[in-house]
Amino acid sequence: MKIVVIQGPNLNMLGVREQSVYGPMRLEQIHAQMKEVAVQNGIEIEFYQSNLEGELVDRIQECYGDADGIIINPAAYTHTSIAIRDAIAAVNLPTIEVHISNIYRREEFRQKSMTAPVCTSSVIGFGPFGYHLAMMGMMQILGEINALRQAQQQQQQETAEA
Ligand code: DQA
Repeated sequence: MKIVVIQGPNLNMLGVREQSVYGPMRLEQIHAQMKEVAVQNGIEIEFYQSNLEGELVDRIQECYGDADGIIINPAAYTHTSIAIRDAIAAVNLPTIEVHISNIYRREEFRQKSMTAPVCTSSVIGFGPFGYHLAMMGMMQILGEINALRQAQQQQQQETAEA
């Protein structure tokens, strides 16, 4: 099972940028915690951060046929990027959108997500802990998909044997 974590613009500045909004934790620390959970659960995990919209689109596309799920914080592109929305829809993988801050309590321009409607679910406003919640959510979703696949396979086998 493989999860890819994709981080949008300025998230490489976590721990430095607007600490009153995003807190003191650095991106590397968040990723280290996620990695720990992944290792404990036998899950492969990869991390990617870019400040460029096209690179984020490329990384989402690369998940097709390679990853089982995506955890993404598109950051400012959440509110503007039809290209990132289309890429998420195109690969059609379980995708969880994360926002560290509660975008619905902030400026009006942050209150619209272009990407959330094509994601499986969203985790918003829990601070960096949201990434941990997203990991838990993704493991639950992938577990359910696996169980469903196994049940289908068993049913097919039973039908073939009958
Ligand atoms: C953010 C919220 C966005 O509005 C903002 O542009 C970010 C971070 C968040 O995680 O709270 O860069 O996605």
